[in-house]
Amino acid sequence: MSKYDGDINVDLNYDANGDLFFDGKRLSGLVDEEPVYAYSLKTLSKRVEYYKKSCESFLTPKVDIHYAMKANAHAEILQLMRQSGLGVDVVSGGELSLALSLGFTGSQIIFSGTGKTRHEIRLAIEHKLSQINVESPSELLRICEIAKQESSKNNSWKVPVVLRVNPGIEVPTHPYISTGFKENKFGLDEQLLPQCLEIIKNNSQFVELKGLSQHIGSQILDFSGFQEALRVLRNMFENLQSQGWPVTVMDIGGGVGIDYHKSQNSDVTTIEKYMQAVAAETQGFSGRLQMEPGRILVARAGVLLTQIQYIKKTPHKNFIICNSGMNHLLRPALYQAYHRILPVFKRVGPEFAADVVGPVCESSDFLGKDRHFTGLLEDDWLCVLDAGAYGASMMSGYNIFAKAIEKTF
Ligand code: LLP
Repeated sequence: MSKYDGDINVDLNYDANGDLFFDGKRLSGLVDEEPVYAYSLKTLSKRVEYYKKSCESFLTPKVDIHYAMKANAHAEILQLMRQSGLGVDVVSGGELSLALSLGFTGSQIIFSGTGKTRHEIRLAIEHKLSQINVESPSELLRICEIAKQESSKNNSWKVPVVLRVNPGIEVPTHPYISTGFKENKFGLDEQLLPQCLEIIKNNSQFVELKGLSQHIGSQILDFSGFQEALRVLRNMFENLQSQGWPVTVMDIGGGVGIDYHKSQNSDVTTIEKYMQAVAAETQGFSGRLQMEPGRILVARAGVLLTQIQYIKKTPHKNFIICNSGMNHLLRPALYQAYHRILPVFKRVGPEFAADVVGPVCESSDFLGKDRHFTGLLEDDWLCVLDAGAYGASMMSGYNIFAKAIEKTF
């Protein structure tokens, strides 16, 4: 099996004057007063191509990639994904409407999400989405009810449903982003499958079972649990086939993580490990495989630029107070996530350690703890790395601070 030997490294370095460049762009040239999320479309495109080529070289089944747009729904990013031949995975009517407005067709859209409303299901059916991933028997009943109401408009088209199973396997990641364990609200416990199959049988004029899906968590770097879950999924899939169900797709979700402590060089190895795990469990699989990657495609392509307002030195601790905090990048506060932070202009001067914090009235409002800098001054800008995934998409209006602006280059 040959590994696709592409380059997915972000070009990030200082010039002789101390100015930080990201993919050839001088970052200080992108900022004025407001915080900015800056995305490199060049890096994004390289990563998407690399991911596609890796699928081709490692996997034998046909793979359809649906970008999980919850990671970053910037219009130009979505356009790039569409032009690269990817579909999208949406989780709300808002994401669905945005994807449609940007030219994705229903056949390129998968609808995941745990709490779909009647309005959202109707919208999905009106646009003949490629599939609706089902999370509970009640939701399935609701889909059938709406499919029946809409059936006169759909000729003989049936609503394709996919059952999202919860394999009961825990993966090593933060508990808030693990989804495939019995404790989690996501997916269907195996014991609920017969009930769901019965509902589908009783409504076979309106809905059809297209396959099974799974997403057991995000930010996964060790794929042994993931591989075990795939084995469970494939067994269930083949059991359905042997019972005569004409299932064709196995949707294996997203989840590939990145090492936030290191540069992107490690991503090549991570993608390779992921592909090997998938390859091992899909040998001879005759159906189509679907993937829903988010983070691995977009995280490295984005940075958050924030301006230092004050440097506060106390006998106990130093604080670098910026105009972005948990309102712009929630990951550190919510998951104790680590993001590397670099000065946009590197100065020489004394080294000092400080917590990098935001303006929000919460003690959990930080971007980084105990970080070391040299010669930083008030009004300097900082660059928070690997912020392209779950950064801007999780921004909030808390304390009524303005949101960060988003720019692409
Ligand atoms: N498919 C489904 C059904 C999902 O729920 C998710 C992410 C994905 C795909 C994409 O997963 P990825 O490839 O990006 O790992 N806010 C958290 C991550 C939450 C992920 C939610 N679901 C964070 O900042 O780490």
